[in-house]
Amino acid sequence: MLTLGIESSCDDTSCAVLKDKDEVLSCVVSSQDDIHSLYGGIVPELASRRHIEMVVPVVEEALKRAGVGITDIGAIAATRGPGLVGSILIGLNFAKAVAYAHKLPLIGVNHLEAHAQAAFLKDKDGAGATTPEFPFIALIVSGGHTSLLYVTDHTSYELLGQSRDDAAGEAFDKVAKLLGLGYPGGVAIDRLSKGVDPGLVEFKRPIISKGNLEFSFSGIKTAVLTYLKKNNIEKEDLSEDVIAPIASGFQEAAVDVLVKKCVWAMEAKYTDNLVISGGVACNSRLREKLSLLSEKEGFKFFAPPPRYCSDNAAMIAFLGGQMLSAGDESGLDLNATPDFLS
Ligand code: KG4
Ligand code: ZN
Repeated sequence: MLTLGIESSCDDTSCAVLKDKDEVLSCVVSSQDDIHSLYGGIVPELASRRHIEMVVPVVEEALKRAGVGITDIGAIAATRGPGLVGSILIGLNFAKAVAYAHKLPLIGVNHLEAHAQAAFLKDKDGAGATTPEFPFIALIVSGGHTSLLYVTDHTSYELLGQSRDDAAGEAFDKVAKLLGLGYPGGVAIDRLSKGVDPGLVEFKRPIISKGNLEFSFSGIKTAVLTYLKKNNIEKEDLSEDVIAPIASGFQEAAVDVLVKKCVWAMEAKYTDNLVISGGVACNSRLREKLSLLSEKEGFKFFAPPPRYCSDNAAMIAFLGGQMLSAGDESGLDLNATPDFLS
């Protein structure tokens, strides 16, 4: 059975074809970075308009790469939230139209729950061959969310903690902006920090309190701004030599907090399986630190390949297939839901 997945919750239009629930035959992602980088952040109206232009070509390309036609598809899954409602509605309504025209079951999928399942995706090249065991802790770190979930099966989880203010990715993007790097900034900070001693410029870790599983990232962005002001670093001084130690120090502080809270979550729930997902889960320092710590402490750490950590439709199709097996099908009256728990 083939599942078609559609993702349009934010600024990427994506479509994937999955075989037997977990094997990715194709996953096409059309990025909108070219539009939003001009404004230093996502402009929702422009995101919706680009989704309208891209949804048909992206679906056609995904079917082509999978070597199948729309009549071979057995079910269609689409993101129903959380995210930008105007963007979600484009993918969701397209999915409804296809489901209606081809008499296919429709499954509306929670984008964040889908991120938590990304470690189960398998490629033909064998990526994702070993999968986590339930129950596991999932750290979902993206531009809009920083959440720790206790995941008990493909469709059940408990929210353990989330950010009280900025998401981790938002902090990376805002600090990147302060340092004169483009949008999205996470990748630029990651690249710039490589091989740079993170101890040269140190920032306080926003821990809140020991064992607490909530996050707060807005203070660390202010700390970077304060550092620039205190050291009289103006826009014209932002050369690579000047900003690299700041970027590396910020990244280290953010990563330390994420790592610590993952460990506390595993301790609190007596589980030794950890999954990370979301755009910030592409961060090389986060992956390196968790990987080293997992070897030292003996827990099992799963980081999906970056293409399945950032926004993609393969994870939507995967969770949609699982939900359908559990009898969770949506009606054509399904609406977009901007909030996490709805
Ligand atoms: O999950 P995602 O693709 O989109 C959503 O927000 O749902 O995440 C995008 C976020 C952006 O804030 C981006 O700066 C961040 O992920 N990001 C990174 C890296 N790659 C992407 N942050 C740190 N290091 C990276 N390598
Ligand atoms: Zn996401």
